[in-house]
Amino acid sequence: MTTTTARRLSRRTVPALPEPRGPLSAAVMGLLRGERDVDVPSPAASEPYGDDLQLALYVLYELHYQGFDGVPDEREWDSGLLAVRGALEDRFLGALRADVPVGAGDSAWAALDELQVEPVDGTGSVSHFLRDEGTVAQLREYAALRSLYHLKEADPHAWVIPRLYGRAKAAMVAVEFDEFGGGRADEIHAQLFADLMTDLGLETAYGHYLDAAPAEMLATVNLMSLFGLHRALRAALVGHFASVEVTSSPGSRRLAEALRRVGAGAAAVRFYAEHVEADAVHEQVVRHDVIGGLLEEEPALEADVVFGIRATGHLEDRLADRLLAAWRDGRSALRSPERAGTAA
Ligand SMILES: [Fe+2]
Ligand SMILES: [Fe+2]
Repeated sequence: MTTTTARRLSRRTVPALPEPRGPLSAAVMGLLRGERDVDVPSPAASEPYGDDLQLALYVLYELHYQGFDGVPDEREWDSGLLAVRGALEDRFLGALRADVPVGAGDSAWAALDELQVEPVDGTGSVSHFLRDEGTVAQLREYAALRSLYHLKEADPHAWVIPRLYGRAKAAMVAVEFDEFGGGRADEIHAQLFADLMTDLGLETAYGHYLDAAPAEMLATVNLMSLFGLHRALRAALVGHFASVEVTSSPGSRRLAEALRRVGAGAAAVRFYAEHVEADAVHEQVVRHDVIGGLLEEEPALEADVVFGIRATGHLEDRLADRLLAAWRDGRSALRSPERAGTAA
């Protein structure tokens, strides 16, 4: 767990399609493999936060990132697939709008301040749990699951750049510049996360842990893709980004402590230590200039900023419940620990 040589992220391996988790995801996988006469069931029959719908949506969103082995790149803009994606998004977004109420006068600043109220005893917080009692195995599981986002860290937020103007655009790009390494490939945050994974003995290939990730993890990543890909949801994307930056610094400090406590190597600690400093700065930039600039230009979007903040919290709470229930029960939080495996 200490001296493995860092591996540079590359496009040399393209992920394989994952295993379906029900009729919807099986149908989507069939479409992606080019099968004909595939009958796609109505998403109305699927649980909006469940494995089947979330995996189907995740796979369709991946066409906009890295794609899958055997699926032609051109299928990203296949009108039939986009129609299926739209129906899945309607179901997911409908559930979020119902579960995350936003009042007409709700303030984005108050919603951000709510995020900074730390639970007195840390109950319900994954980073408190891992700092205080997390095992190496649990930290490895956490990293394996979070790799679904961190190996494409900040990518979904880049889609918002053409939808912003002036102060908000300049500030968003400044933060993204840091996320993408400030001009240095070895400092790209996704690469820093790959270094952490290598240190923990995990497999760094993009998409490796997709089959292992429960619906609650997929939903957190799908939320960013949903917000990032829709111009109409640009303010929700900004709200999401602000949530991440505001909560990251204290959470990262606890995760760095957890990794030090279990004797992880410098590369593992570095990813979170870097975010303690960087995100304390990012938080201020996002608050004052990204949200401030956006709402100065488009004040009617404040409710959607609040929606983005609260939807992020809603899905992160669901993920935390899933992880903590498993770990407190002495179980793995992965769907298929034996398949997830680790790097040799
Ligand atoms: Fe980052
Ligand atoms: Fe950041």
